[in-house]
Amino acid sequence: MSNIVVVFHSGYGHTHRVAQAVAEGAGAQLLAIDADGNLPEGGWETLAAADAIVLGSPTYMGTVSWQFKKFADASSKVWYTQGWKDKLFAGFTNSATMNGDKFATLSYLWQLAMQHSGLWVSLGIMPSNNKAATRDAVNYVGGYGGLLTTSPSDASPAEVPAGDLDTARRFGERVAEVARSRR
Ligand SMILES: Cc1cc2nc3c(=O)[nH]c(=O)nc-3n(C[C@H](O)[C@H](O)[C@H](O)COP(=O)(O)O)c2cc1C
Repeated sequence: MSNIVVVFHSGYGHTHRVAQAVAEGAGAQLLAIDADGNLPEGGWETLAAADAIVLGSPTYMGTVSWQFKKFADASSKVWYTQGWKDKLFAGFTNSATMNGDKFATLSYLWQLAMQHSGLWVSLGIMPSNNKAATRDAVNYVGGYGGLLTTSPSDASPAEVPAGDLDTARRFGERVAEVARSRR
């Protein structure tokens, strides 16, 4: 089985809920960046051993949270030796507004993966964009480059829309499938 790690930050639990669904689909390990922007003990070693790294952050002010950015800057140590070269990468972000500039966050995650000379896995799920589509349809938020999810500003983490969680699970499954095909 492939070694997949979902490394993410979540300030208030919503992105954590999405990360859990991605990990469920991928059979992945969760690695949380804490409120100070640090990984737990052994976190860097866990990432070094991964075949695939899924990057996740909430969208704050149109980009990743500062805690995620601190992690990204700390990864420059790995970048110096290109220690993550040729690993698979994928990304996701959750925010309150349907658009909310989420794509800028996803672009940042992609850019980070490219700086590490990684290989990017897209969402690979067609958007639900016809008249019949409901909010709980798969990929209703309509990402292509990665997973985009939307939890309304007054929703608790337990209320992340079911269709978005379903999309997250399928996205995780796709990352696992791509990882498997490379072994
Ligand atoms: C500091 C801050 C900035 C935010 N900026 C945005 C934003 O640019 N676009 C958006 O749609 N939502 C924005 N939000 C809403 C969050 O993305 C949303 O509440 C999300 O679910 C938080 O995820 P978390 O619970 O994992 O921290 C912002 C929230 C905070 C606290």
